[in-house]
Amino acid sequence: MIMIRVTNNSQVDKDDAPQQAPGFHVEWHLRRQRGRSALKQLAQHNTLSHLQVMTGTLLLVAGVVASIAAPLVIRIIIDGYKNGVDGALVGWAIGLMVASAGLTAMGNYFFSLAGLTLTRLMQNKTYATLLEKPVSFFDSHPSGQLAGRLVNNLSLIKEYFSGGYPNLVNGSVMVVGTAIVLFYLNWLLTLMVLITLPIFGIALAMIGPRVVHPVEQYQNELSDYSAMATESFANIRMVKANGAESTFTKNAEEETKSLNRIGRRMAKVLAFVQPIMSTLLLGIIALIFAVGGYMIAHGQMTNGTLVSFILFAFQIAGPVSNFSSYIQTRKAAEGAAASLQDQLNSVVTENNEGKSLDGKEISRQPLQLSDVTLQYAGNRGITKVSLVLQPQHLYALVGPSGAGKSTLMGMIERFYEPDTGKICLGDQPIARYAIKQWRAQIAYVPQVSEITSGTFKNYLKMGNPTATDEQLNAVLRRVDLGEWVNGLPQGLDSPLHEYGNNMSGGQRQRLTIAQALLRDANIYLFDEVTANLDADSENIIRGIMHSLAQDHMVVSAAHRLSSIRDADEVIVLEDGRVTGVGTPQSLSNTNDTYARYLKEQTL
Ligand SMILES: Nc1ncnc2c1ncn2[C@@H]1O[C@H](COP(=O)(O)OP(=O)(O)O)[C@@H](O)[C@H]1O
Ligand SMILES: [Mg+2]
Repeated sequence: MIMIRVTNNSQVDKDDAPQQAPGFHVEWHLRRQRGRSALKQLAQHNTLSHLQVMTGTLLLVAGVVASIAAPLVIRIIIDGYKNGVDGALVGWAIGLMVASAGLTAMGNYFFSLAGLTLTRLMQNKTYATLLEKPVSFFDSHPSGQLAGRLVNNLSLIKEYFSGGYPNLVNGSVMVVGTAIVLFYLNWLLTLMVLITLPIFGIALAMIGPRVVHPVEQYQNELSDYSAMATESFANIRMVKANGAESTFTKNAEEETKSLNRIGRRMAKVLAFVQPIMSTLLLGIIALIFAVGGYMIAHGQMTNGTLVSFILFAFQIAGPVSNFSSYIQTRKAAEGAAASLQDQLNSVVTENNEGKSLDGKEISRQPLQLSDVTLQYAGNRGITKVSLVLQPQHLYALVGPSGAGKSTLMGMIERFYEPDTGKICLGDQPIARYAIKQWRAQIAYVPQVSEITSGTFKNYLKMGNPTATDEQLNAVLRRVDLGEWVNGLPQGLDSPLHEYGNNMSGGQRQRLTIAQALLRDANIYLFDEVTANLDADSENIIRGIMHSLAQDHMVVSAAHRLSSIRDADEVIVLEDGRVTGVGTPQSLSNTNDTYARYLKEQTL
């Protein structure tokens, strides 16, 4: 069937790649097909889930056999009433009913287990793939929204695998098994019942799409809501200082309003599902009674057969109406899988293939940038930067804010690949090395301290997982945090809050420096790391950089000249371009900006 849906772009998923231009669009059924294959691709079965599915299927089939056998035994009991009641048969009927309940429950449980296994695998794979995306991907996706969509989409997929799918298997086995027995009991009546089944199908086909689209929209809106809430919690100081609580509350109210609108659309459709299903079912039972009664009156059917027919009809009513839940969860899962897949495919992951790299071998090689240009979407980054950076040198990167200092460091870290130009280490382009191995050669401290929650020990050990407590303490002492951390009740095991919220700005900066110092690196990149430090701490960090430069390449961005006194060379960046390179002394005569800086800061 070809489905055509006309949508207004203001209504479609805001983040679905490829981005659509505003206006009306015709979507063919391709999206459905894409969803189906996306679901398949995401759900890679493994041995465990296969075993669980097989066990589940066997149990379900056994359960269905028992539940089909029970009405047949009951039929024999009823038809044998004139000769009294056979106690053994009654025992069998009860036993079969209990067994069918037990087996079906176990089968459902195993199917749910398989669903959970698949979901877990999918969760791990999706998160790992997202982390492999380049920094530019995270620049354009708000972290709260990214996390929200990940969680919401995965929960829709989980619902399908652990709810909808087991229902389908259970229901299909039940319906097919029952239909066979019913044919054997009375083919005419069975045909009449079967003819009514397509009505169920048509009802479901009409309801399905009306629910699925809103479900997807609802999940996306929910992610936006969670992104907004996360952002306001993370920036709570700014919010409170500005008295902006009410602004955020209003934004949240707008979000909940549109959530409510979509929810109402879903509710309207869902409200019909149950009554329609019950009415149809009632109609079928009435039909069975009418036709069955007629046949009994004309001696064409026994009472027992009619009773077992009715029992069968009740038995398959559950699975048949569950089929609608199967279709709903399936479609929602397909949509979720397609939108996850879009996200996973939207930007290529960082390429970790390439030459391996020996730290010792490269430690004496210069880093050469030739005509390196990076243009951010809509913003100039750096333009035609050419530089040669030598090992055992301390470089100071100076320039006004927005000049491109952080961008330049990001290029060395390979957070961004140059649009044009290249960066070589010795005579090898750095792009040739496996990206993780390349980064392993570098210790980088970002401009904004990035601190994750956990303990001091966990955080520091990201710099070097094998570091001993002595090494951690030594490095903390080096950045003058030793006494402070050891004075905390749990020392190195004391909790670190999200964003380092339980530390001062200067302590945060020194902690990030300590983490970097634990790395066994050849190149050290410090991005304005002394910005929040007092003069004493700044002197300590300056000393560290100076001693690192005895043996390594050190690049330090700074806007305060005091922190770059010991630089072997100063690189002046302005508006994305290098406007001067030289020793601090020579530059003061040749570079106007540097001379002006000197004058302003020595006043
Ligand atoms: N992630 C980004 N996305 C888009 N533009 C950016 C991004 N990071 C920096 N820029 C832009 O690139 C230019 C250089 O920024 P940056 O390298 O951070 O400067 P600096 O570190 O010297 O203050 C600025 O104009 C800035 O707006
Ligand atoms: Mg910067």
